[in-house]
Amino acid sequence: MAYFLAIANRKGGVGKSTVSVMLTYAFALWSNKKVLLIDLDAQSNSSLILMGGERWIKAQRTSKNVAAYIEDRLYSIEQTKIYNYIEYEVGDIEVSPGKLPDISILPGSLNFEDLQDELITYYSRNQTPFRQAKTKCSEHFRAALSFANSFSDIVILDCAPGISNATAAALKLANKIIVPFRPDAVSQFAVDRISRIIEGGKKFEEVLSIPANRRRYVCLANYVRKNRRDGLYIDNIAVDHPILKSFIPAMPAVSDAFDFLGEPQNMEEKYGEALRPLRALHQELLAVLPF
Ligand SMILES: Nc1ncnc2c1ncn2[C@@H]1O[C@H](COP(=O)(O)OP(=O)(O)OP(=O)(O)O)[C@@H](O)[C@H]1O
Ligand SMILES: [Mg+2]
Repeated sequence: MAYFLAIANRKGGVGKSTVSVMLTYAFALWSNKKVLLIDLDAQSNSSLILMGGERWIKAQRTSKNVAAYIEDRLYSIEQTKIYNYIEYEVGDIEVSPGKLPDISILPGSLNFEDLQDELITYYSRNQTPFRQAKTKCSEHFRAALSFANSFSDIVILDCAPGISNATAAALKLANKIIVPFRPDAVSQFAVDRISRIIEGGKKFEEVLSIPANRRRYVCLANYVRKNRRDGLYIDNIAVDHPILKSFIPAMPAVSDAFDFLGEPQNMEEKYGEALRPLRALHQELLAVLPF
């Protein structure tokens, strides 16, 4: 049984893909787990970081991507197996010279947004009300993605900004959701909003009544600069939401690791200065998550 970990925030540019890829490497290399990343964003950033442009383009041509998988499952339920759509041995980090960690990816696809519109049209046939069609569409995504269950130890779901049907499905499917945020004036609103969706569309007061350790999500401060202002924004979020003690500082080493380098490196070379906060985050998650 895989553990499903979604990385989500309606707000864009907060570090969802950065954190998804970092944790993929951390769990694969430091916890020796088999990790599958599912890229639910048409921008395909985490796919590009893990595969590089050339291999990602090939995966589009050969229908090895999440859009092709979801679409095929709609029309040929039995024959469509998730493992046929996955790219194996991805990433540019090696465990030791010549040995790659067990990392695979269900790549993102530029067709993913069109596919979501197409699915709504499909489920809206026979005059099905729109809301019901949306629920059916999201359920189709959830069921399809749940087949990653037997495939790896940990499935990381890198969500797109906003709340698409695919993100709604990922939030339902996940055992735990990490909500990265940047310490700024608008983050509080974004975190409040997604917390309500994650906890099942409850009113915010009802979310607040759930003890922090029973919430399905935990927040992670990213892009943190060591100043009073950032500290205050983080403290404000922590008043209403569970939050990890570890955080990711704003540092060039994090953005540099966004590049795919064809030649494999080790973790120290890839993450440089960012290795220390990544280790702290990994350690804390090991204490919070059941593996
Ligand atoms: N801690 C950090 N320090 C420096 N740069 C960072 C940090 N975290 C993220 N970035 C940079 O910020 C940009 C946005 O990050 P990322 O793409 O991970 O966000 P996202 O939430 O996935 O965005 P989107 O909503 O578009 O999917 C990237 O260029 C990334 O390299
Ligand atoms: Mg992203």
